[in-house]
Amino acid sequence: MSSISVGQQRVLSGMRPTGPLHLGHYHGVLKNWAQMQHEYECFFMVADWHALTTNYDDTSQIEGYVWDTVIDWLAAGINPSASTIFVQSRVPEHAELHLLMSMTTPLGWLERVPTYKEQQEKLQNKDLSTYGFLGYPLLQAADILVYRAGNVPVGADQVPHVEMTREAARRFNHFYGKEPGFEEKVTQAIKKMGKKNAKLYKSLRKKFQEEGDHSALETAQALVESQANISLNDRERLYGYLDGAGKVILPEPKALLTPVSKMPGLDGQKMSKSYGNAISMREPRESVEQKIRKMPTDPARVRRDDPGDPENCPVWEFHKIYSPDEVKDWVKKGCTTAGIGCVECKQPVIDGVCAEQQQFVERAQEYVDSPEIVRNIVSEGCDRARDAAKETMDDVRQAMGLSYK
Ligand code: TRP
Ligand code: SF4
Repeated sequence: MSSISVGQQRVLSGMRPTGPLHLGHYHGVLKNWAQMQHEYECFFMVADWHALTTNYDDTSQIEGYVWDTVIDWLAAGINPSASTIFVQSRVPEHAELHLLMSMTTPLGWLERVPTYKEQQEKLQNKDLSTYGFLGYPLLQAADILVYRAGNVPVGADQVPHVEMTREAARRFNHFYGKEPGFEEKVTQAIKKMGKKNAKLYKSLRKKFQEEGDHSALETAQALVESQANISLNDRERLYGYLDGAGKVILPEPKALLTPVSKMPGLDGQKMSKSYGNAISMREPRESVEQKIRKMPTDPARVRRDDPGDPENCPVWEFHKIYSPDEVKDWVKKGCTTAGIGCVECKQPVIDGVCAEQQQFVERAQEYVDSPEIVRNIVSEGCDRARDAAKETMDDVRQAMGLSYK
């Protein structure tokens, strides 16, 4: 397979390690990742360097948070034999690509990314006028491009980062996409296809370039695709020669927008650890019960016999996720007629959340009991990630004229 089609099949995503994950992470992100691992070649990364961009002043928690994050991914059903789970700082190629791209990326691009100003305003108590924080999106671009990932599942807030990644890749390819001696190398590559195929390739290329015949281009691409004994680099040269684009060193990824999570927090706002409205994925049962019992309900229901409206109640949002239709019907009817009380209404939610948590706890058990299993999973993931990243960096260095020894 060519690296172009490898890239389209490849997924990379990441999360900063901020401690145990909550139900918002599960319903908003992890469920989606678990689904994708069967459809794509997935790389899931703990972005510990990204965590440092805002938490550089205290790094004492970071290691524990990295393992918490990985265990919760495993608990959510991310399967280490289907996906590559790894830690960013253990693949130094990210840093190298970040540095090299920092040479070509205009400052204005970074200053204009919306999260830059937003986060600085939101986290007023921190000094975020640092070099590392400004570079956050470029480091993210390197995370993606170093795997030539075609797809990046992210929430809407991250889309500008993927957009900037595309621009950074385009600019990079523009500067370095023409490798020295390209014509000669591609001539050699054409020869390697054998006489008959070489002739066909040349005539299809001519048809496309002189007559704009797109079906000729497609046929030629399929011909390149079908060559079994050609190296990845030659294959890319053959593709690049067809459409005149040279060699695509860093293909542009696209964002796969994660559907907005239906999971609000206990108070109806977005679930977030910093708002104190979260239930973690493996929270003890008593604590789950206590939190849900304390949840606010429709303010119209002051007394037991005041009717309410589920649409004004955060508990209803939980029913939408956890309850089957019969229970939802029971809630709608009971709430609007004051037929049920809020305490009663919350019970199926408590049971639903606890049943879901049970599977997380069960899946996590062996990892909690034997942390070395987690270390091994991550170690293997890092090796795999590094192999993939190295391939890209060889090409990047070569394209930039930096592969001297
Ligand atoms: N910035 C992302 C977030 O805060 C985390 C992240 C780092 C990431 N590198 C990435 C996401 C690469 C996708 C791809 O959620
Ligand atoms: Fe909310 Fe249920 Fe109470 Fe209605 S009955 S206000 S849906 S908790």
